[in-house]
Amino acid sequence: MADVPRDLLEQVSQLEALFTVDAKKLKEITEHFVSELDKGLSTEGGSIPMNVTWVMDWPTGKETGTYLALDMGGTNLRVAEITLDGKRGFDVIQSKYHMPKNIKTGTSDELWDYIAGCLEQFLASHHAGQEITNVHLGFTFSYPCTQPAINKGILQRWTKGFDIDGVEGQDIQPLLDAALKKRNVPITVVAIINDTTGTLVASNYTDPFTKMGCIFGTGCNAAYYEVVKNIPKLKGHVNDDIKPDSVMAINCEWGAFDNEHAVLPRTSYDVKIDEESPRPHQQAFEKMIAGYYLGEILRLTLADLHKQGFVFEKQDITKLDEPYTLDTSFLSRIEEDPWENLSDVELLFQEELDLRTTEPERKLIRRLAELIGTRAARLSACGVAAICKKTGMTECHVGADGSVVNKYPLFKERGAQALKEILDWDIANPDDYPVKVTPAEDGSGVGAAIIAALTAARVEKNLS
Ligand code: GLC
Repeated sequence: MADVPRDLLEQVSQLEALFTVDAKKLKEITEHFVSELDKGLSTEGGSIPMNVTWVMDWPTGKETGTYLALDMGGTNLRVAEITLDGKRGFDVIQSKYHMPKNIKTGTSDELWDYIAGCLEQFLASHHAGQEITNVHLGFTFSYPCTQPAINKGILQRWTKGFDIDGVEGQDIQPLLDAALKKRNVPITVVAIINDTTGTLVASNYTDPFTKMGCIFGTGCNAAYYEVVKNIPKLKGHVNDDIKPDSVMAINCEWGAFDNEHAVLPRTSYDVKIDEESPRPHQQAFEKMIAGYYLGEILRLTLADLHKQGFVFEKQDITKLDEPYTLDTSFLSRIEEDPWENLSDVELLFQEELDLRTTEPERKLIRRLAELIGTRAARLSACGVAAICKKTGMTECHVGADGSVVNKYPLFKERGAQALKEILDWDIANPDDYPVKVTPAEDGSGVGAAIIAALTAARVEKNLS
């Protein structure tokens, strides 16, 4: 950065010091993570919920049948009909419905009625004229839920900016069921599934070497199978069906890691995001690494640099002052600018924020985006490493899905480098790393269908 003025250069080194997480810190975070995963499984519990999911079988690959899957993501609602072919393959018919922004902060009735309406529309357009009796639905609801059974999900708290009154503390199954009944839609919710569990199961179905499912998207989280005897909070539930050696998929909800702020290197910007969010003191880890927040970290840092007189001098920053105005794709575009003078960044700031930038400013902005993106990838690796350490897994595939891992430049590579540092691999070629993040199968659709099939098989087995 030879052509960057001295005061900006100093700023860059300060930002580097603020956002860089070195190998020693990564290891410290990982160690703490392992103990928090354990705590979450204990009877006393801890910050990380470690929710039991009642998904108690690995897929065999031989599952068959046609199931409906509903995925309530942050921006879209997806309905899919999935036919499993029993040979690790599947067919999918799907429709996407836009999730209106006001639904995210509207009322509970509006939410469930909107979802029931989309399901009704799906059946009407894909099965027009057919008589439909009882369709089994796997509902991917990717928020932390306590699950007393596979078809029940009591919402612990909203995450990812959702804030709908009257749902937290409620079982979502009867809420959706009532909305479906009102419209006479013949659908039964047979399983409530987290996107990470769906990802784990769907990826294992096509690649049995997959032992962990992760989402690095709007939110971040992971699921893996734990042995029942290692889940002390299940004591009292162990019976003929659930043996100490049975396995149980755990939806970690690791976004809540370090809610007590013991170890993560939070900056003043992270603190501000937390305090101004609808759920302060929740999802500490997620707020530093997930797609919902990366743009906001950049925005707050830039607004602060402006306040200190380092960037956008004498310009009106009204647009930049708007909370959550930048999403993660804004950072991706900054990092992807191929031009030496960062002319794409120049255009981006002009068009989206009405701001003029000098070339040295753009270099600082680019470095800042790199720092934020790299920190996210490196911290994410701590979670993956912690599950490996906790379970003793030294080799596996980690099925990963989500906008950040799929679209953010170098996220995977930076994460892999961090895993290497944490787990002390002396291996030169990333292709040879023993734990590898691989693109996942569609967990929210195919995963939901496989889980619905596994559930049906389990019910049948218990009845016979
Ligand atoms: C949030 C949700 C969690 C979900 C993750 C990824 O962390 O609480 O349930 O798995 O986002 O979508």
